[in-house]
This record gives sequence, C-alpha cells and structure tokens, in this order.
Amino acid sequence: MSVKFPKDFYWGAATSAHQIEGGLKNNWTEWEKEHAKVESEFYKKGGKRSFNYPIGQVNIKEACTYENYISGKAADSFNKYKEDVQLLKELGLNAYRFSVDWSRIEPEKGKYSKEGIEYYKDLIKELKSNGIEPFLTCWHWPIPPWLEEEGGLLSKNIVEYFGKYVDILVENFGQDVKYWMTINEPLVVSGSGYLQGTRAPGIKNIFKFWRVCFINLVKMHKLAYGVIKEYCPNSQVAISKNLFGIRGEGYNFFQKIIKKIFGYFWNDLFLHKIEGSLDFIGLNYYAEIETDILNFKKDERKRSDIGWAMDPYSIYYVLKDLKKKYNLPIIITENGLADREDKYRKWWLDETFRAMEDALEEGVDLFGYLHWSLLDNFEWSEGFWPRFGLVEVDRETCERRTRESGYYYKKLVERANGPG
Ligand code: GCO
Repeated sequence: MSVKFPKDFYWGAATSAHQIEGGLKNNWTEWEKEHAKVESEFYKKGGKRSFNYPIGQVNIKEACTYENYISGKAADSFNKYKEDVQLLKELGLNAYRFSVDWSRIEPEKGKYSKEGIEYYKDLIKELKSNGIEPFLTCWHWPIPPWLEEEGGLLSKNIVEYFGKYVDILVENFGQDVKYWMTINEPLVVSGSGYLQGTRAPGIKNIFKFWRVCFINLVKMHKLAYGVIKEYCPNSQVAISKNLFGIRGEGYNFFQKIIKKIFGYFWNDLFLHKIEGSLDFIGLNYYAEIETDILNFKKDERKRSDIGWAMDPYSIYYVLKDLKKKYNLPIIITENGLADREDKYRKWWLDETFRAMEDALEEGVDLFGYLHWSLLDNFEWSEGFWPRFGLVEVDRETCERRTRESGYYYKKLVERANGPG
C-alpha cells in the first residue's frame, strides 16, 4: 500500500463522558430510571421496534433487564482513565476525543466543582504526557439537574448558561487543548429528545424541537465559538455533526426528491446556520439515509447489531460533498459499529480506510480519524447491550480487553504511517 495519509494525521478513538465515566448525577441519570422500567418491560413482553430496529439481533437477555438502561458506573472511566490512556497508547493512537460532563463541572448553578475540574485536568495531562492529542467536546448531551429544572434546552437562559460553562472550560483547559468541539450532534440530541421523545427529556413537540435545534443550539454554538476563540486564539473549533450517507443508488424519481429534502434538512441546514463559526468540521458517520424508509423494501446490506445498514465506504461521498459545500478541514470525530462478536469491524475499518484514501487523493482536507468507540459503553436509550468498543469492557468488573479488531486497527495505522 502506498502511503497516502499525511504524516501528521490524527489516529484515535472517541468516547463521551456519560457513556463511560460512571458516577454521574445529571438529567439523564434521572430520566433513565423511568425509561429503564418501560424498555425492559417492553422487551420482556416480546416487543419489537419499528422497521429495521434491533430485535433478532439484540441480545434480548440484556435488553430485558432494568440494569441495562441505567448508566451507573458505566465503564468506570472516572477511576480507570489512566488505564484508558494506556490502551490508546498500546494501540499506537495519537488522538483521543472525550467530552466534559457539565454536571461534573457545575453541579450547582454558578458553583464550580474543583474535583470535577481536576479530573479533566488530570485526564488531559495524562494524554499529553503520553503523546496523545486531546479533542475536547464541551457538551455531549446531559445537563445538570438544576438546569433541567429551569427548562433544560428550552430555558430562556440556556445560551447564557452555556457561554459561562464554556468560559470555565476555556479558563481551565485552554492552555492544553487545541481542538474543541462545542456540541455533539445537534440534530440527534434535539430530534430524539424533543421530537421523537425517545431520549431525555422525552418530549414530542415539533415547535419545541425547532426552537432547541435551530435557534438555541445554533446560538449556543456561536457563542461558545466566540468564547473559545477569544481566550485561545490558536485553538481550532468545530461541532461534531452526524451526517447521513447520500450515495443512494437505485432510487426512483420520487424517492430522490424525498432524499434531497431530507438530506438538506439533516445534513446541511444546521451547518449553513453556523457558517463562519467553524474552523473545521467534525464528522460523525455511521449510516446511509435509512434505505428502508426510502426504498419501501428491505435492502440486502449487512446490518450491525443495532440494525443499521452497513455501508462504510459511503463515507467517501460524504467527505466529497462536505468539501464541495464548505471547503473546510475535516476530521472524522465518530465512525464505527455495534458488533458484539467483532465479526465486521475489521472489514468496516478496511472499507473506511479505502474511502479516506480515495477522498484524500481527490483533495479532501481530512486530518484525522477517531473511531467510535475506544470502549464498550452506555448507548443512550438502548443501554449497554450494543457493543461499539475496540476494547471490550466486562459488564460486571469493567475489566478491559482489546478486541482483535482493535489490534487490526493498530496495524492499519502503522501501515498508513509508513516506515519511519
Ligand atoms: C450518537 C453519539 C454517540 C453514540 C454513537 C453510536 O451519535 O448518538 O454521538 O454518543 O454512542 O453515535 O450510536
């Protein structure tokens, strides 16, 4: 293989606080309790989700348990972060994306926790002393309970609160962190929490969804961008945006129109609204626009444990499209699959590497790849049963064991880096 990746390419993995740290107290840890009852009962009664959703692939035993939906100690990374940094190092990686949990920093309104701040300072120090570049996400969804009580993302003060919180992050971590993601997946968090109602806070209201997504989150991002740039002019700031694949061959005329509208709404609208407040784009990529909806038939592609049709190479088209529309540097801030038995992850990585090489060769300014996820973790409304980790985490002991695909990733990275 000829070496096509730039020498300073970032190779890494990603996680988020609520999904791995454990011991948190935020709006999600509250919301989970009721959700856990409803979900476990649903599966126990033999419930099935609509269209391609799990069942059949779900580990049904786990899906039927209450504990599956309670984040609890998660992967215990609050205590095991040093071990996690060593795992990254052993895999030969030079970048790690993690998020700061708002409630750990500001458990009470306007009062900042020294212990919480120290935890992230230590994590960043540990990363840097091991030659790993931190990519910090300011907000990957949960909020402190006091903020939930004030209306959460609908609070009239949400933008101001977020600005102050980001200010504290910059003050404490700004010297050591160059790459910042303000918000993770604005459409996913607002769509699932305020439109579908499948995640915290469980609201189903299109007007509230719109206000959260296209008004409040837009303002929050812009303000945070300004705050970070003001204090750390050398920083690079972005959001992580979930984009659907848009390859979509074999659609009829009518389906193509739906795809265009949906694609614009999902992939582009938010990015358009924050144009000018982005130094690069953080791309989270998992799947094509749901082909079952558009094709009205089952397609032939393999599906991951969570039911998503797997088409890893199609990230190539997304990268090309981003270049054409925004012409900004891009880093893949999430990409991966739920694959408990590690059957497809190597193939997925092969296909993704091929796609990245093709995109690079065609001039896309791609500067890194962060696999989702370093560890098996707490997958929001589905709980623990989907396993996204390069590293397997024992549900009882939280012991870590690198999967074969983790070592395979290491080899691919070595090869991509070339000799010397
Ligand atoms: C999201 C988040 C991650 C998920 C991952 C797998 O997209 O929901 O950014 O927290 O765990 O995407 O679903």
